[in-house]
Amino acid sequence: MIGRLNHVAIATSDLKSAAARYSQVLATPEQVSEPAALPDHGVTTVFVNTGNTKLELLEPLGDNSPIWGFLGKNPDGGLHHLCFEVDDIAAAVAKLKAEGARVLGEPKIGAHGLPVVFVHPKDMGGVLIELEEVSKA
Ligand code: CO
Repeated sequence: MIGRLNHVAIATSDLKSAAARYSQVLATPEQVSEPAALPDHGVTTVFVNTGNTKLELLEPLGDNSPIWGFLGKNPDGGLHHLCFEVDDIAAAVAKLKAEGARVLGEPKIGAHGLPVVFVHPKDMGGVLIELEEVSKA
């Protein structure tokens, strides 16, 4: 069902310094996006294009951000989720639910303007999984 690894998300309490670290040390400034606020998801994101995939650096946005809980348990930040591409998010959600996996809410428009949904880490080997419906265009 899943296709390409779209991105690996890393939560941080200091997006500016994380982005600077990647643009100056591990990558080049051209590989690192500007910050984008996603109020619907409670995060500000910076993407680092690594060629075969991307890193999504995540910082909490707003008091109700889902990232606060993660940073409470992981104050230095860490691996937050993996995002895989799917062709049909509705079919993916139906299959996951039929197999007993906990799908978190309904699909919403994500950082790339495409529908995304999350699957509970306890049903996925301890890692939060995001599915993104790839553009059919
Ligand atoms: Co993501």
